Amino acid sequence: MSATHPIEPAAGEAVSEDRVIDTATGEEAPAELSEQRVLGIFTEIAGQYEQFNHASSFGQDHHWLDRVVELAPVTSRSRVLDVAGGTGEVTFALCRSYHPAHIVLSDYTPGMLEVAKQRIARGDACGVDVETRVVDGQDMPFADASFDVVTMAYGIRNMPDRMACLREIYRVLEPGGTAVILEFSTPPRPIERAFYNAYLRWGIPAWGDHFTGKRDDFVYLARSIKAFPAPDAFCDMLRRAGFSDPAFERKSFGAVAIYTAVK
Ligand SMILES: C[S@@+](CC[C@H](N)C(=O)[O-])C[C@H]1O[C@@H](n2cnc3c(N)ncnc32)[C@H](O)[C@@H]1O
Repeated sequence: MSATHPIEPAAGEAVSEDRVIDTATGEEAPAELSEQRVLGIFTEIAGQYEQFNHASSFGQDHHWLDRVVELAPVTSRSRVLDVAGGTGEVTFALCRSYHPAHIVLSDYTPGMLEVAKQRIARGDACGVDVETRVVDGQDMPFADASFDVVTMAYGIRNMPDRMACLREIYRVLEPGGTAVILEFSTPPRPIERAFYNAYLRWGIPAWGDHFTGKRDDFVYLARSIKAFPAPDAFCDMLRRAGFSDPAFERKSFGAVAIYTAVK
């Protein structure tokens, strides 16, 4: 389950992910629909987000995060951008492991970054220069080729124009730079997929209700996971954004996939 699979272009298979969509359904829709919903949801759950993630993944989130950190070729001289970085889980893990020169922790929801700032104040950045910025990952204010590594965990699924985000990541990366993207996926084997779908339908909203009392927000989460492209289709999107050699590995029976792509 943990081998990295290089992906060949899908022969004759057109992937129609260039559209602006409703991230809950994958159907074409105005971007504002998804953007406003995401802002509302993550503003509401910012304070409980990390506890929810940990409990609802039965602690697997830390293993997935460790693997993202392993795959990110960060050194002490790296300039790193964390897109949709939220409360800073990936950013602070990179700080602990590599002590990079500079990390921009960017996110669309100011409330998530407020939690990240509290963590910086508590010392979670381990002395690394972490800059928090409110940024839409689909339209970033950074110069071309200004980062060596870009990370994004559980972010792209929430964006209505995913190709715009992937093109932006490609643009801001230095030639030779690497993107590491973690996203929920769907287990390929039928039995595991059936359990997973049942968990998405009943388990995730129940956890959400327990932590925040906002069951509906977590119905969205489950729907957006089901509407997200399969790993090979997502690799095709990476390729169309300009990346030459996207690869992915599944974790936890395919509940998530971790993508790497080099500019
Ligand atoms: C599930 S959280 C992931 C946070 C963090 N990456 C982590 O690993 O815990 C998804 C994040 O995506 C952010 N997001 C959604 N749409 C975005 C966009 N268009 N641009 C940047 N961030 C976005 C949300 O604000 C939220 O903080």
